[in-house]
Amino acid sequence: MVFKGKRLLLGVSGGIAAYKAAELARRLVVAGAGVKVVMTRSGQEFVTPLTFQALTGQSVAGSLFGPGAQPLEHVTLGQEVDAIVLAPATANLIGKMAAGIGDDLLTTVLLAASRPVLVCPAMNSQMWRQVVVQENIGRLKARGLTVMEPEVGALACGDEGPGRLPEVERIMEALAKLVTCQDLTGQRILVTAGPTHEDLDPVRLITNRSSGKMGYALARAAWRRGAEVCLVSGPTALAAPYGVELVMVRSAQEMLATLRQRFPAASALLMAAAVSDYRPESLAVQKIKRGAEAQQFQLVQNPDILKELRSLKTNQMVVGFAAETQDLVAAGRRKLKDKDLDLIVANEVGRPDAGFAVDTNEVTLITREGDILPLPLLSKEEVAQKIMDWLAQKLAPAK
Ligand code: PMT
Repeated sequence: MVFKGKRLLLGVSGGIAAYKAAELARRLVVAGAGVKVVMTRSGQEFVTPLTFQALTGQSVAGSLFGPGAQPLEHVTLGQEVDAIVLAPATANLIGKMAAGIGDDLLTTVLLAASRPVLVCPAMNSQMWRQVVVQENIGRLKARGLTVMEPEVGALACGDEGPGRLPEVERIMEALAKLVTCQDLTGQRILVTAGPTHEDLDPVRLITNRSSGKMGYALARAAWRRGAEVCLVSGPTALAAPYGVELVMVRSAQEMLATLRQRFPAASALLMAAAVSDYRPESLAVQKIKRGAEAQQFQLVQNPDILKELRSLKTNQMVVGFAAETQDLVAAGRRKLKDKDLDLIVANEVGRPDAGFAVDTNEVTLITREGDILPLPLLSKEEVAQKIMDWLAQKLAPAK
């Protein structure tokens, strides 16, 4: 959704990771972006322009002069797009940018560019560690360019260490931020996600069907819009969202302890976690053996986290979720009042296309003021955007 209709310039310089830029181009096009590729001469040694032309449906620009070169392209290309991504960015390209050199089409485009630039370095580990390369990286950052850290691992040259091009997924996340309105800049957003695990013995536990997808989507959406985000997550199978601080917890009590520490400094709390209301009264040290025909376990109530945090509330916006199988709005309103929330996101969890574990959700937003906004079935990413729209309006601009 974030890339739909966006115009991007992908600069490809000469490193073995250039082949991964083809996948990046493809993924961006699938996501709805128009992608114009500019290649250095060495970049074209690794992957042919034809590959990018076929993937993007646009001609590839490669030189200032000669056949195919368009007059003024070196000026206009970097000004007509929403953002520029350099992947891979070699030590040579980074050095030229730092020194202000424009001796080919890509470096000249970058000198004349007026749009945000994302630099995705990829090179041999020794090169990456060179003082001069690090100084150059520092210069680019000081000028306001976004520079990703290369990933650590096995390199094409046989070395192990930092220097791998960041995964395409992560590049897309970093790029998504550059093309998104930064209306949550300066805000500290706390998000919870996933289920809790309430242990019964060393192998058994009480939990629920939450996958964490809704909460992780909220964390990504808030980060893209400029917020500093801490995601407190129960156990999930999801990858850590790029740029977000992830704190993993297991039980409701652990989640409460973490939130007690984090909540006072937050501007908002978005409580999408499905917290277990009960836990076993005691934790058996050894695995409980099969024995009697019937077994009974005593459960005790977990703290209601949202209620517990009320005493720490100053001017934070607090958003709860209501997981309901019937009377959505009435139950949502009741919980909003009972837990003293600013917004409750009521979702029906008894259907196959909404609620737990799926990529879509159908929610109704109910505000403290009594406004009710039913939304259609949307992806969880889109639901997260709608909640961020509400939040951005509510939060005063940070000083
Ligand atoms: O993770 P997914 O698979 O993507 O699924 C998303 C979701 C269905 C889990 C999510 O959209 C959702 O509805 N989360 C809230 C689930 C829930 O616990 O609802 P509830 O109606 O029982 O609780 C109401 C609110 O109180 C929630 O914000 C909950 O986090 C909070 N709560 C609940 C129990 C408790 N002991 N302390 C709490 O603070």
